[in-house]
Amino acid sequence: MEIIIQPDGDAAALMVARVIAREIRRKPDLVLGLATGRTMESVYGHLVRMHQEKALSFASCRTFNLDEYIGIPANHPGSYRHYMNLHLFSKIDINLKNTYLPNGMAPDLAAECHHYEEAIKERGGIDLQLLGIGHDGHIGFNEPLSSLRSRTREKALTLSTLQANSAMFDNNIEKVPRRAITMGVGSILDSKRAIMLVTGASKASILAKATEGPITSMVTGSALQLHPRCTVITDEAAAINLEGIEYYRWIFANEPEWQTF
Ligand code: GLP
Repeated sequence: MEIIIQPDGDAAALMVARVIAREIRRKPDLVLGLATGRTMESVYGHLVRMHQEKALSFASCRTFNLDEYIGIPANHPGSYRHYMNLHLFSKIDINLKNTYLPNGMAPDLAAECHHYEEAIKERGGIDLQLLGIGHDGHIGFNEPLSSLRSRTREKALTLSTLQANSAMFDNNIEKVPRRAITMGVGSILDSKRAIMLVTGASKASILAKATEGPITSMVTGSALQLHPRCTVITDEAAAINLEGIEYYRWIFANEPEWQTF
């Protein structure tokens, strides 16, 4: 794992977008794992701008999102399909047929989870997985105590997650679906490269736990310590609790890959 600290949230999001753009230019048919949440909105904003101004093309990309709520249709404003269409897919040249999210309305949810894993495998696995982190340390919707070897499956959401995500449901926690389909921690660890974006002071404590704390199913983001190639991109506000902060700055300043960014 490497940790890169940028001055603020927008600089961190821009760096994530640049990593994605570089990977797409290297491999136009990239299999991209996507995430939702407020943190990701500025990453998608930068990707849209790069598409418009720098001819970044998504025409051959395939995307797989981490998760989707169960029991709300794709056109519901709170669904992750709606989020992705709104913030990214409708503004770039991607073929919608190549954008995959779990179907939370599937009559047989277990079969849907199985097919999702198979679809990822058939396309050669995820080349680059984008991740955020929840306040309880979840990646995707892998809530505390999720098996660190879990695969795509149904999960019940914690009260704190329902609260954090209620903005898209009229700020009414009662309206937030209580269950979701999520890629598992094991599925995420299978990605060839992972980029986690964590910004803002409210994430400082969970960022330190996930990166410097013990690997534990109570903080599923900590499993990324096992990932063969994971980069955490953060901002000064979220980095304040990191014990190794000066060490991370030193590594970054001396790592050839980042000198061209
Ligand atoms: C949701 C998503 C996660 C995301 C998290 C953080 O729970 N399932 O993938 O990381 O939100 O969202 P935010 O960026 O809004 O804090």
